[in-house]
Amino acid sequence: FHVDWDLMTAEKAGYDHFMLKEIHEQPKAYRDTMLGRISEDGRSVELPELKMTAEQLKGINRVHIVACGTALHAGLVGKNVIESLVRIPVETDVASEYRYRSPIITPDTLVIVVSQSGETADTLAALREAQRCGARVLAITNVVGSSVAREADDVIITLAGPEIAVASTKAYSSQLIAFFLLGLYWAQTVGRKDEAEVANVLAAMQALPEQVEKILAQSEVIKQVAESISHHSSLFFIGRGVDYAVAMEGSLKLKEISYIHSEAYAAGELKHGTLALIEEGTPVIALLTQEDLYEKMLSNIKETKARGADVLGIVNEGREEEVAKSVDRQFAIPRTLPLLTPALSVIPLQLLSYYASLALGHDVDKPRNLAKSVTVE
Ligand code: G6P
Repeated sequence: FHVDWDLMTAEKAGYDHFMLKEIHEQPKAYRDTMLGRISEDGRSVELPELKMTAEQLKGINRVHIVACGTALHAGLVGKNVIESLVRIPVETDVASEYRYRSPIITPDTLVIVVSQSGETADTLAALREAQRCGARVLAITNVVGSSVAREADDVIITLAGPEIAVASTKAYSSQLIAFFLLGLYWAQTVGRKDEAEVANVLAAMQALPEQVEKILAQSEVIKQVAESISHHSSLFFIGRGVDYAVAMEGSLKLKEISYIHSEAYAAGELKHGTLALIEEGTPVIALLTQEDLYEKMLSNIKETKARGADVLGIVNEGREEEVAKSVDRQFAIPRTLPLLTPALSVIPLQLLSYYASLALGHDVDKPRNLAKSVTVE
C-alpha cells in the first residue's frame, strides 16, 4: 500500500498550485481581516491596535504610501480610498525611489508602508528614512513580528494567512480590505463621514466574501480567455480611476507568471502614444467598473476596436447586454460600491494570469527570476 503524496501537496489542500489555493482563500482572508475590526452593530470601525490617538490622527494632513511590487499597487488603491473618504492628499511612491528623493515630510505627514512579508529591503529602508525625517509610520503587513511590523509606529496586520506562491494574490486583496478599514476609521474619527455612511460602506464590505465566491465559481469563463490570450506576445490592460490601479496589478500578475508582455494604461492616455501598438487581434482587457466613467471607457474601447483589438470587458452585473455591443467577450462582477470594486475586479485578473501561465506550462508558484521576498536593495 503506497500513499503518493508529500507535505507540499498536502498543504495545497487538493489544489494544483499554491497560487490557485490562495486565490480561493480570498473570501476567508477578507472575513479574517475584517473580524474584530467592525463594531457589533456594524456602524463603526475599531482599530484598537493603533497606538496613534484620535488627536494625532486628526493632526495628519498628508499621506505618503510607500511599497514595492504588488503591495505598491494596493497602495494606489489605498490612495483612492483615503482621498475619497478622508479628503486629504495622498502620494504613492515606489520604495526604492522614495528613499532617495529627499521626501518632503512635514510634521503632519503620515507615511504608510505596505508589505506582505514585512521584510522587503527597499520598503524597510524607506520606513527608516521616513522615521529619520520625523514621520510617523503606519505599516500594513501580513507578517506579525516582521522587521516592518517591529519598526513601524503603528501596525495593521492583514489576516491573509501564509502566502507561499511568489505571485501575491490574497495578500494584495487583504491589503485593500485594510485600506478600506483604515479609510473608514479615519473618516469617522475626523468626522468626514457620519455613522450612516460608514455603516453603508461596512455593509457592502461584509458582502464582499460571498461576492468573491460567486466570481470564483465562474473561473471556467476566465480559463477559456486565458488560453486564448496565451498565444499572444503582447497585450494591454486599460481602465480609468481606480480601475487603472487594478489594471496595473492585472498586468504585473500576468507578466510575473506567464512572461507575456503587457502594459497597463490609463484608458484616456492610450491615444497619446501607444495606441499604435494595437493591431488586429491584440488582446485588450478593459475594466469598466466605475459607473461615472463608463461612457468614457466605452469610447476608449472603441478607439482600440478601430485598430482591431480583441476586447475582454470586466463589467458590473447588469451592464452585460449593453456592453456586449462594444466588447468581444466580457466577465461580470457583482455590484458593490465604486470604492470597493478593486476587491472584486482583481479576482478575474488573478485567474487570467494563473490560467495563462498554466496553459503555457510555466512553474506557476515559482516563476523565473522572482523571489517571494526581496531582502536585498
Ligand atoms: C517581490 C515579490 C512581489 C512582491 C514584492 C513586495 O518582488 O516578487 O510579488 O509584491 O516583492 O513584497 P512585499 O513582501 O514587500 O509585499
